[in-house]
Amino acid sequence: MPQTYDVVVIGAGPGGYIAAVRAAQLGFKVACVEKWRNPKGERALGGTCLNVGCIPSKALLGSSEEFDKVRHRLGEHGIAVEGVKLDLAKMLARKEAIVSKMTKGVEFLFRKNKITWLKGHGRFVGAEDGAFRIEVLDDADEGAAASAPQLVDAVNVIIATGSKARHLPGVPVDNQLVCDNEGALAIPEVPRRLGVIGAGVIGLELGSVWRRLGAEVTILEALPTFLGATDGGVQKEAWKLLTKQGLKIHLGVKLGAVHAGKRGVKVEWTDDKGAAQVLDCDRLVVSVGRVPNTDGLGLESIGLSVDERGFIPVDDHCRTAVANVWAVGDVVRGPMLAHKAEDEGVMVAELIAGQKPHIDYQCIPWVIYTSPEIAWVGRTEEQLKAEGRAYKAGQFPFSINGRALGVGAPEGFVKVLADAATDEVLGVHVVSAAASDLVAEAALAMEFKASAEDIGRVCHPHPSMSEVLREAALAATDKRALNM
Ligand code: FAD
Ligand code: NAI
Repeated sequence: MPQTYDVVVIGAGPGGYIAAVRAAQLGFKVACVEKWRNPKGERALGGTCLNVGCIPSKALLGSSEEFDKVRHRLGEHGIAVEGVKLDLAKMLARKEAIVSKMTKGVEFLFRKNKITWLKGHGRFVGAEDGAFRIEVLDDADEGAAASAPQLVDAVNVIIATGSKARHLPGVPVDNQLVCDNEGALAIPEVPRRLGVIGAGVIGLELGSVWRRLGAEVTILEALPTFLGATDGGVQKEAWKLLTKQGLKIHLGVKLGAVHAGKRGVKVEWTDDKGAAQVLDCDRLVVSVGRVPNTDGLGLESIGLSVDERGFIPVDDHCRTAVANVWAVGDVVRGPMLAHKAEDEGVMVAELIAGQKPHIDYQCIPWVIYTSPEIAWVGRTEEQLKAEGRAYKAGQFPFSINGRALGVGAPEGFVKVLADAATDEVLGVHVVSAAASDLVAEAALAMEFKASAEDIGRVCHPHPSMSEVLREAALAATDKRALNM
């Protein structure tokens, strides 16, 4: 007879493994199905985020930023450095070591919380007597015989199968010459010329990595606007700072044929004035969005279907159309962010336990880890105008903040948007080296429905970058920033 679990999670990315941990903390008998193998054929937990997403990209962003700093930014401190050399193999090995430490950490969490890791591809094969039957098909370890599919039963199933890179028709990705995120995080030598299709989050982050390491980076973006989802003021500042760093970004591009040959890749494209152009590059990164993973999940066997874009439809509490089947993370609507996936995983585990958790999707922060970082939470000025909501804006620059000057990070600003009548904070937009941390304070304030004045009245440490958030809040409240 198949083992019965209270909760089976399919997928061990940040949505799935966190759901499994929280469900185990709440006393459930939990199993998690995960099929991931790294390029060496080793199994790993952690999903896209830990293996080929957030963690390795931030490792390379960190390393490349240090390299850039030593070459270009230490002089102003009176520090002269000569003979700086790049050891890319060591940099990539450091990234792999961080990934391994983090994925092994999830294995530890599974052991600690007595979560069974079912190794292989999971799919629904039906439902009977109030339980869902799931088949786990294991691809055998090298040299070993394939085992028969394993069957388990689950009272609740959490689908957390995540997403994969969207590829373009006629542009085959081999992760050597033409790469998606997986290849772009492992290029073995710095390309002289790197082409990137898509000026979204991955294009800008990984484009920045290879630019800092010395590549000539050209990014081709289909949309006529740069970072269209961000606040207009942020768009302008980010464009100014990133193009100054040498990223060549073309907007309003129409992509033509892509030819990958022995000597590199030739990309035909049409510019925003309709002129035909050719980009010759040594390697090409395709970063044009991601698509949900729902192939081979056997959803039809339990009467569940996906929407026209392949996402599993869910309500605000991640309930699917089938009772006791839940879906979280990149496989459902909403931003494809690890922390959003995690919070949904926690919410679903607590709902299964009869608790009443809730996520305010307006309070989910975004961070693009360029240098400076770009972060925001809540609405942009453009969204507030479109909604016809009266608002006040307060902005304060880092260029007159003592801490920012001291650490050599004077670029950027904080903008606080607050309701014109109630002063409730509606959106916070940050361009700064410290943006990822500052936006967390803003998210906390918004979760507590703080007014801009509330932030302005909180004592902030001096000197610190957080004073800029306080000053921007004071500026929004009543134009009463103290240091401007
Ligand atoms: P995933 O992390 O994709 O995990 C899904 C897991 O399910 C995978 O391990 C997969 O093998 C497994 N799976 C799928 N189908 C099956 C099946 N049938 N049976 C068994 N297992 C299955 N987000 C951020 O918030 N911050 C960042 O800095 C950030 N950086 C990123 C950088 C890059 C280069 C990329 C590509 C993404 C980045 N993201 C970032 C996005 C983030 O990685 C995702 O939003 C997050 O991983 C989604 O989590 P998830 O649990 O929904 O899915
Ligand atoms: P994206 O959606 O951020 O950007 C894709 C870009 O490609 C868009 O600007 C789009 O207009 C453009 N594009 C689409 N088709 C095109 C074409 N044919 N020619 C030229 N341009 C084209 O997607 P991306 O960068 O692939 O990242 C996927 C997701 O992963 C992100 O949306 C985000 O959710 C997540 N992510 C998050 C990170 C973070 O939080 N720091 C870092 C990296 C990824």
